[in-house]
Amino acid sequence: MLKKINRLLKEVDGFVPNNKDELESFRLSFLGKKGYLNSLFNDFKKLPVESKKDLGKKINQLKKTVKNIIKKYHSDSSFEEKQSFIDLSKPVLLNNFGSRHPLSIVRKNIVDIFNAIGFNSSEGPEIEDDWHNFTALNLPKDHPARDMQDTFFIQTNPDVLLRTHTSSVQVRHMTKNKPPIRILSPGRVYRNEAVSARAHCIFHQIEGLYIDTNVSFADLKQTLLYFAKELFGEKTKIRLRPSYFPFTEPSAEVDIYWGLNNESDYRITKGTGWLEVLGCGMVDPNVLKNCGIDPKKYSGYAFGMGVERIAMLKYGVTDLRLFFENNVSFLKQFSSL
Ligand code: PHE
Repeated sequence: MLKKINRLLKEVDGFVPNNKDELESFRLSFLGKKGYLNSLFNDFKKLPVESKKDLGKKINQLKKTVKNIIKKYHSDSSFEEKQSFIDLSKPVLLNNFGSRHPLSIVRKNIVDIFNAIGFNSSEGPEIEDDWHNFTALNLPKDHPARDMQDTFFIQTNPDVLLRTHTSSVQVRHMTKNKPPIRILSPGRVYRNEAVSARAHCIFHQIEGLYIDTNVSFADLKQTLLYFAKELFGEKTKIRLRPSYFPFTEPSAEVDIYWGLNNESDYRITKGTGWLEVLGCGMVDPNVLKNCGIDPKKYSGYAFGMGVERIAMLKYGVTDLRLFFENNVSFLKQFSSL
C-alpha cells in the first residue's frame, strides 16, 4: 500500500493540466467516488492499528496535494484564457425569435374589434354533421344552394362532413343558449375547390351573430361600418349590395371602397374601386325556429368573412397560397406586428 501511495504522490507532483477537461478527469480519478483516494481509505480501514499512523499521514498528504493542484488550476485565470479565447469583437448572436402567422394577426385584429362591442368567441367542431352545417341553416337536402359550398364528406357517410362555414357553430350556440346572443365564431373551414391564387380548399372564417328583441338591418349596417373603419381606417366607406344566402333574409354583400389611384387598384377591384369583404343578412326565421328560438319574439343578424381575404387586402398579398406554404422569408415580414 505504501508503494502505491508513493507512486501516486510522484505522479501528482509533476501534473500540469493542458486544459479544463484534463483537470476534471484528474479530479475524478482521485477524488471521485471510484477514485484512488476512496479506495485507499477503504483499504486503510482494514489495516492493523500499528501501521495506521504512518499510512494515514501519507494518504492525507496525497489528498492535500491533489486538492491544491485542483485549486491552483481551477482559479488560474491564465489557464482559463488559454482554454477559451473570448473574441470581444465578435458580433452578438441575435436571438432568432419566431413571428406570429399573418392569419393569426388578422384574426386577432378582427376578434378584438368585435370584443370591444360585446361579442364573445365561440368555437365548434371542424367535422360536422349535415344538420348543423346545412339543414338547420335552411338548406334542406337537395336544396340547390348547397352547390354554393362544395363539400368534403367523410368516407361514404353523407351525414358526416368537414364544415364548409362556421355558421355551424352559430347553430350549436343558438340551440344551447337563450337570447340575447352576441357571438363570433372564428375557425378553419373546408371546401372542395381547386387550389389557386384566389381560392383554397382550407381557409379561415370569422362569422358573427347577434340575436335579441328588435334587432334591425340598421343595427347590422352600423356594426359593419364600425368594423370597417376600425380595420381599414376612419375614412373607409362601405356599401351593401343585395345578395342571397339561404340562412338570411334579406341578405347582402358588403364592399369597402378601395380607391382607384393606381394600376393595381384597377386590377384588384376590376375597375370599380370597390372590393367585396363579407356576406351578411337578417337571420331567417326558419333558422331561429330550427334552433329553438321564437322568431316572433326575437330577430337577429349574421355576417361572415374570410380571414385570408382580409389579410390579402391588409398586407397587399396577391396569392392566397402563400399563407399555407410556411415559407420563412414570407412569414418573417410580419415579425414586427
Ligand atoms: N356562411 C356564409 C358563407 O360561408 C357567410 C355568411 C354568414 C353570410 C352569415 C351571411 C350571413 O359563405
